[in-house]
Amino acid sequence: MREQLFRRKPAASFLADATPHAGGLKRALGAFDLTLLGIGAIIGAGIFVLTGVAAAEYAGPAVTSSFVIAGFACAMAALCYAEFAAMIPVAGSAYSYSYATMGELVGWIIGWDLVLEYAVAAAAVAVGWSGYLNVILTGMGVHLPAALTHAPAAGHLLQIDLPALLIVLIMTAILYVGIAESARINSIIVMVKLCAIAVVIAVGVFYVRPANWTPYAPFGWHGVMRGAAIIFFAYIGFDAVSTAAEEVINPQRDLPIGILASLFVCTALYIIVAAILTGMVPAYLIDIKAPLASAFVLRGMNFVAGIVSAGAVAGLTSVMLVLLLGQSRIFYAISRDGLLPPAFSKVHPRFRTPYIPTTITGIAVGVTAALLPIQEIAELTNIGTLFAFVLVCLGVWILRRVEPDLKRPFRTPLVPAVPILGALFCGYLMLQLPMVTWLRFFLWMGAGMFIYFGYGRFHSRVEADAHEHKAASAG
Ligand code: ALA
Repeated sequence: MREQLFRRKPAASFLADATPHAGGLKRALGAFDLTLLGIGAIIGAGIFVLTGVAAAEYAGPAVTSSFVIAGFACAMAALCYAEFAAMIPVAGSAYSYSYATMGELVGWIIGWDLVLEYAVAAAAVAVGWSGYLNVILTGMGVHLPAALTHAPAAGHLLQIDLPALLIVLIMTAILYVGIAESARINSIIVMVKLCAIAVVIAVGVFYVRPANWTPYAPFGWHGVMRGAAIIFFAYIGFDAVSTAAEEVINPQRDLPIGILASLFVCTALYIIVAAILTGMVPAYLIDIKAPLASAFVLRGMNFVAGIVSAGAVAGLTSVMLVLLLGQSRIFYAISRDGLLPPAFSKVHPRFRTPYIPTTITGIAVGVTAALLPIQEIAELTNIGTLFAFVLVCLGVWILRRVEPDLKRPFRTPLVPAVPILGALFCGYLMLQLPMVTWLRFFLWMGAGMFIYFGYGRFHSRVEADAHEHKAASAG
């Protein structure tokens, strides 16, 4: 049994699974599509919504430093992701990388953990989307009943966030139909979203009052780090690029470009937007539901606020699209290895998409979004994602030692310094998250163990594959 828990699935065997074949996923994406896919996943509820809480309640104007710190942690992790993604370009992302380096149990743990990063994050974004939609509708004089636009809360148990549920189901339907369509819709949305950010920067810069930047860190270093642990959410998504690996025409060259370019663009935009927001409005007045739009309202520019809200509503849809896409691809990869039932890796005969995990994920995410509040879902996502990043960083270092001769089309620079710094920074951010988030994290991982020891362990295909490979090479 010990042997099984730690046996690794060889990188070559992952590559064999992902070789193009008639029943496989459709290869349609290039470096530019991937960068847009990354930006599509990255810019979302983090900058449009959570910057508000981070600035108003934790970091103050020093939220710019929170963005720099979280961005640095992500840059180290991204350099590690790039090495893996080019070396093992398969749909499972961190799940497959850990399976190849640290064995089946760690691989499964990460696969299960990634549900927090993808599905749970998609739910958080859906809630943020519903909030911005409400701002727009209210601005137009349309008032939806509170019982249909909010998650249940103390004293108001009989209510659901219906818009959040509906938007998830619509995104699911798009993903069901096909990857090329999804990428095309994504590109359009990304342009709209970038325009909204451009408006914030181009107009906002004229309304900055440097006096608002002091005191810079009203809640001290601790506030800055706590802020970083929250707005870390804003960066999640560059790694989602790697889950599209089997749908890329030239993955070894294009995946590192897509991962690093999308992260670079977003980091630069975030730091500028955070500086402008905190320069426009004193930190304690920043709105925590729709901070970017309401900064313009506070400065008497309702029209600009409308444009920014519209951009946010469009922008958040692409985040959901890419996160849901990533989740179904990860389930697809895990099921192909036998650790989840075979239905999860069935490809639709006409659309060539993994339609079963797409549907199941869509329903589960929609229900979660309808019933839970955003900050708590987002913190759960952060702890899960940071954990995955720590293991990916360590994985790069480990694999350099155990399989130094593997072909690495992209090499993480300065190994082991970069992986170690990445793991330390991400680990430190995890420690900034509240106790209750840790508790939920342990419960979730506990449930995962239950599934592995009840199902995955008995259905793993690695052994069978090894025999097949041997038989094939003997024959
Ligand atoms: N980074 C994504 C967002 O901010 C998840 O919504």
